Amino acid sequence: MVLAPDPFSACRAAFPALRRTLAGQPLAFFDGPGGTQVPQAVIDAVSDYYVRCNANTHGQFVTAQESDQVIHETREHLAAFLGAPGWQEISLGANTTTMAFSLSRALARALKPGDEVVITQLDHEANRGPWLALADHGAVIKEVLLRPDGTLDPDSLSRKIGPRTRIVAIGYASNALGTVNDLALARRLSKQVGAWLIIDAVHAAPHFSLDVQALDADFLLCSAYKFYGPHVGVLYARQGLLAQLRPDRLSTQDPAAPFRIETGTLNHAALAGVRAAVGFLAGFAEGATLRERLVRAMTALAERERRLAQSYHERVRAIPGVRVWGPDFDAAQRAPTVSITVKDLNSERVARQLGDRGVLVWDGNFYAARAIEVMGLDPQGGVVRAGISMYTSEEDVQRLLDGVAAIAGA
Ligand SMILES: Cc1ncc(COP(=O)(O)O)c(C=O)c1O
Repeated sequence: MVLAPDPFSACRAAFPALRRTLAGQPLAFFDGPGGTQVPQAVIDAVSDYYVRCNANTHGQFVTAQESDQVIHETREHLAAFLGAPGWQEISLGANTTTMAFSLSRALARALKPGDEVVITQLDHEANRGPWLALADHGAVIKEVLLRPDGTLDPDSLSRKIGPRTRIVAIGYASNALGTVNDLALARRLSKQVGAWLIIDAVHAAPHFSLDVQALDADFLLCSAYKFYGPHVGVLYARQGLLAQLRPDRLSTQDPAAPFRIETGTLNHAALAGVRAAVGFLAGFAEGATLRERLVRAMTALAERERRLAQSYHERVRAIPGVRVWGPDFDAAQRAPTVSITVKDLNSERVARQLGDRGVLVWDGNFYAARAIEVMGLDPQGGVVRAGISMYTSEEDVQRLLDGVAAIAGA
């Protein structure tokens, strides 16, 4: 059998951070779910922006015009990344949390007391807090239950969505347990009652080819610093929806989408970096259009990351004293993020000892606080989370396994 060449096999050279060492050993970065490393092309794009065209927008001079162009092209690139019809559906901001709160304030003005909002126990607080805040405006909040296997209970989802539901906020993938949620079910149920579907795709965007039109999302949020770019938040809003809402805005601001929900001056240099990050991802595949290249590249990346994560999952669970949390890899989609606990050891201690070996993992709840609470994992300091990224190597995984085995005393 001839194996197809792995387009990502040489990608490590693109990331200068991977050259860093600790006590003579390279760092093994498993902290991607908290933010990935950045390729040189992105670093260059940010710095070139400052060198060449640092200016505010809408001026009658070259640097302002180039800044307008950077922002416009960033929206076009993100539209291709998300499968959106066009740049008009892509609003930009500081990060997902900030954009979700902006959306929440806009939605608050469209709700009536007694309207219902459905959130989940699995989600990151960024996809709970902004909607929980709607209770201050008379909304009734309903919470979908998390099952011990780390998946959302579909019966609970269908029971919580009813005729008064106006908003269903659900994650695409869990940043704590790697679960991929049944978004088709969420869409079907929310559509039956005419509710807006808001998808937090922050943890999915680095790992899967996204398609907002196939998901039939009303709103979808993600953050470029999780997919090899700078710290920028992205809000997809279905065509025509922002026009129905009254977001916070200055009277001097453009009232049309996608600008309608953006406030103040954006981080232009970071946006130049986001454009470069999407271009970087597209560079791993061929195709006639940017969208085609992105779909192919992200599909190949998903396969590669799944293979590595599944291999880690199988081997780490075999270490005596280690317990793996979250669903198995038999689900059709599973994010390459694996969380464990080690018997009798606080997760902070496990993460610190791995950190001392140059193996970078996060411990705690990663703001998926409700999920970790419901799973009963708070007393152990939450979980130890390893995220597979594009640049994760077999050697990295082996070092992680050796470290866990040594710490567990196996
Ligand atoms: C699933 C998920 N949603 C939302 C967020 C919040 O993103 P931001 O830091 O851009 O506000 C994160 C960040 O870790 C996340 O993992």
